[in-house]
Amino acid sequence: MADLDGTSAEKKDKEYFTDIPQNKPDFFLKGSHQYDWGLQNRLAHIFNPESGRTIMLAFDHGYFMGPTTGLERVDQTILPLEPYCDCLMLTRGIQRSIIPASTQKAIALRASGGTSMVSANDEWEGEIGGQPATLSRPGYEPLSNEHLAVDINEAIRLNASVLAVQVFIGSQYERQSLQNLTNLIDAAAGYGIAVMGVVAVGRAMERTVKYFRMATRLMAELGCHMVKCYHIEDGFETITSCCPVPIVIAGGKKRPERDALQMAYDACQEGASGVDMGRNIFQADAPVPMMRAVRGVVHEGMNAKDAYELYEQLKAES
Ligand code: R5P
Repeated sequence: MADLDGTSAEKKDKEYFTDIPQNKPDFFLKGSHQYDWGLQNRLAHIFNPESGRTIMLAFDHGYFMGPTTGLERVDQTILPLEPYCDCLMLTRGIQRSIIPASTQKAIALRASGGTSMVSANDEWEGEIGGQPATLSRPGYEPLSNEHLAVDINEAIRLNASVLAVQVFIGSQYERQSLQNLTNLIDAAAGYGIAVMGVVAVGRAMERTVKYFRMATRLMAELGCHMVKCYHIEDGFETITSCCPVPIVIAGGKKRPERDALQMAYDACQEGASGVDMGRNIFQADAPVPMMRAVRGVVHEGMNAKDAYELYEQLKAES
């Protein structure tokens, strides 16, 4: 009842700030300023609001590759990297079985699947001019025959910040993969969960600047909140410029550490909002030093040379 007597000498006067307009919080992330609070908060969990970028550690490869090199024992190889990333990109199986629920990192949950490295190719076998012949169907990509592999309720249970869907533009199952994307965007919209479209590459799909510009823009137009794409040497800045939402780059196949750091640096200079890297980190000679060097490039303004020196120094100390 002390508040009611109004006589306490120590009582602080109320301050109404009547001459100051209420703050209008801005939102730091490209194309994301008109989203609802929950969605923005999830994105701010993935992307560092200070640098505007993210380091996503991708180790979802097992969903179609099984235990690829470096991911034979995720508890041994990935958990030591966890402190240095912003977001874990993974499957629900690995999340539940290996990742401690106490993690403070954002979750990027792999949400499409259904095919594997050994999915049968679609080929015609017969005779041409009396000779046995085998022809591949143009545009056929066995891996592209994916479906949505996670229900939205499961994504909520797993506290996902973003759901990742592979999109196979130009493949036989292009339409199906785009439908996976839009169905998930609609389902996730009700809960403020972000969706990331992942540009797939394969035998039937090009790796040209024109292709990546089209694929990334197309997915953004269909409503995804961020896009994962490969870096390309010439014209990558036109891809990021045309895409109204953030782009993060995949690392792709393992390359020398110095080259991978250069790629991360170039991508960020050319408008990428960070990296979603896997093999170039967990297959590096020294994964933790590599993770910390990537962090230097993405968040700490290091160029590739300085980051590589940091990598070598940390590797020597480890
Ligand atoms: C994409 O399809 C995979 O699931 C990985 O998330 C992606 O390829 C990124 O990993 P990496 O840097 O090894 O290419």
